[in-house]
Amino acid sequence: MSDETLSNLLKEDRRFEPPADLAADANLTEEAYARAASDREAFWAEQAERLDWTQTWDRVLDWTDPPFAKWYVGGRLNAAYNCVDRHVEAGRGDKVAIHWVGEPVDDKRSITYAELQAEVSQAANTLTELGVGAGDRVAIYMPMIPEAVVTMLACARIGAPHTVVFGGFSSDALASRLTDCQAKVVVTADGGYRRGAPSALKPAVDEARAKAADRDGHTVEKVLVVRRTGQEVEWDDAVDVWWHESVAQAPTEHQWEAFDSEHPLYVMYTSGTTGKPKGILHTTGGYLTGCAYTHWAVFDLKPETDVYWCTADIGWVTGHSYIVYGPLANGATQVLYEGTPDSPEKGRWWQIIEEYGVTIFYTAPTAIRSFMKQGREIPDARDLSTLRVLGSVGEPINPEAYVWYREVVGGGRTPVVDTWWQTETGSIMISPLPGVTHGKPGSAMIPIPGISADVVTEEGQSVPNGSGGYLVLTEPWPSMLRTIWGDDQRFKDTYWSRYAQQGWYFAGDGAKKDDDGDLWVLGRVDDVMNVSGHRLSTTEIESALVSHPKVAEAAVVGAQDPDTGQAVCAFVILRDEAGDGGDDIVEELRNHVRKEIGAIAKPRQIMVVPELPKTRSGKIMRRLLRDVAEHREVGDVTTLADSTVMDLISGKLTSGK
Ligand code: WTA
Repeated sequence: MSDETLSNLLKEDRRFEPPADLAADANLTEEAYARAASDREAFWAEQAERLDWTQTWDRVLDWTDPPFAKWYVGGRLNAAYNCVDRHVEAGRGDKVAIHWVGEPVDDKRSITYAELQAEVSQAANTLTELGVGAGDRVAIYMPMIPEAVVTMLACARIGAPHTVVFGGFSSDALASRLTDCQAKVVVTADGGYRRGAPSALKPAVDEARAKAADRDGHTVEKVLVVRRTGQEVEWDDAVDVWWHESVAQAPTEHQWEAFDSEHPLYVMYTSGTTGKPKGILHTTGGYLTGCAYTHWAVFDLKPETDVYWCTADIGWVTGHSYIVYGPLANGATQVLYEGTPDSPEKGRWWQIIEEYGVTIFYTAPTAIRSFMKQGREIPDARDLSTLRVLGSVGEPINPEAYVWYREVVGGGRTPVVDTWWQTETGSIMISPLPGVTHGKPGSAMIPIPGISADVVTEEGQSVPNGSGGYLVLTEPWPSMLRTIWGDDQRFKDTYWSRYAQQGWYFAGDGAKKDDDGDLWVLGRVDDVMNVSGHRLSTTEIESALVSHPKVAEAAVVGAQDPDTGQAVCAFVILRDEAGDGGDDIVEELRNHVRKEIGAIAKPRQIMVVPELPKTRSGKIMRRLLRDVAEHREVGDVTTLADSTVMDLISGKLTSGK
């Protein structure tokens, strides 16, 4: 799109009314806002009734010891039973739960709820046999194959919290997570398919296990391995167990037990402002309620007829809430795709939508922008007329991407729900409702019924319409994080200290209220970047860079990027003994970051500089570096300890060295 179109769209004041047929039959209607506001707890009690409990709660919410919440106090349930068995018991065993599509063409499999029940039971039996009991942690490092979902549900079934580590993370990143949550067992695969080729996973698990043992003295007892690609793997008989020789042979019956509503369901690591990732803890009853309710309300799910597809990876929270727990608790039929959007051809996603008649589609703005670049001919070549609701998540959606998504993918018919939430919130907090809210390109609109949010000043004053500030959630909600694994203090400091007096949750995002009072989320206000919808910490990448022997100091910023939202840009000072670092220094450092954290954190750009801009108190002024990275004139330098530093950096860059 030309710049002119872009600025026209930014001034865009078109509004899209909900389609009449959708509005007429919407799951949630306007009255829900007032009903939820007048009695929040009653509203949330009603939502929890979507689940089957073996014992109902005595109290909806216990908020007597904030910020430590307890939801559905005294209630008991099993999350896997709710996601699987109860649908079978209700006579829907033959309904497809997952249409799984492998990356190699024709490698596909549709799994019914009854089949899922049998497989989850087998995996639960095997995990038990491997010594996993309720409360033990199981790490999952897998490609997007059905066994990944089966493993998560099997863990839930036996009350063993899982921690899924994104398959793109390095062995180092995996090792620190294994240690942090003291994982007893790791479930992995020999590899998965990425861009047409097998990509290994098991070697990273072997390395991570060794590192966790040598470095941190932590022993992973067993590694359960799915054979997916058939590639060669190292094998240790004392530790490694093949899935096909254990799970596939195990009994298909497994007696589940009910757990307390507050029993830990999983730990999901996410980047914070320090170098150490935070293990976000979610528990059972409240989390599952939040996922089931939002998936039903925000996507207007009709489980009997819809075919739903969320393109996230299960290694992120979106995959947890909107592939596993929400859709399955609701008995939905969904697509699960293993590979990349453009393999083996650019139109693979649209082919999948056509083949399965997908009706609800949930993806990220970064993906939409890359399709826009490829041109509309590619989606236009497929029949996408089954689509009726489109969702967006992970980063702000720019108006031109929103309009393209609605027009080209949605044929101009479909509402786009721009859903704001976080790993910490567990489920969607701010979003239009497709049958109620008119669409406004670029705005996430207002909190969904049951959720209370505001945009406030530093001092905690609600900002008037037309102004910006910090996004806060002003009331507790069922799927809220309960703590940071093993670090209650960090939990309080990070989210609850800024507005301690008011008792509000500080989200770390900036937002603005427009003249109608609708919310526009602007992005992080801390040292967290958002690259292609993935959260990365500047500090974590800086520590990865300085761990390289040639690097003395490093500063990382997230620079605007037209494709990925933000991109990682690093400035490094080399050690004296490293000289100019050699010709390949930039590539060497980029690969070092990949090895330390993973490919997603690999800087787009690394600049070797003689100095870094610092204040008199030694704080790096990232604002100035961002100016350089975004090719802007460098801003105010008067607070620098040495104001000539920026000239040095700019001079160095123009000289091309
Ligand atoms: C950003 C992903 C604008 C935001 C579910 C948040 C968004 C962070 C949106 C959480 C949206 C997510 N509009 N920004 N619709 N959705 N974000 O934990 O900065 O991976 O704080 O959870 O992504 O990222 P996380």
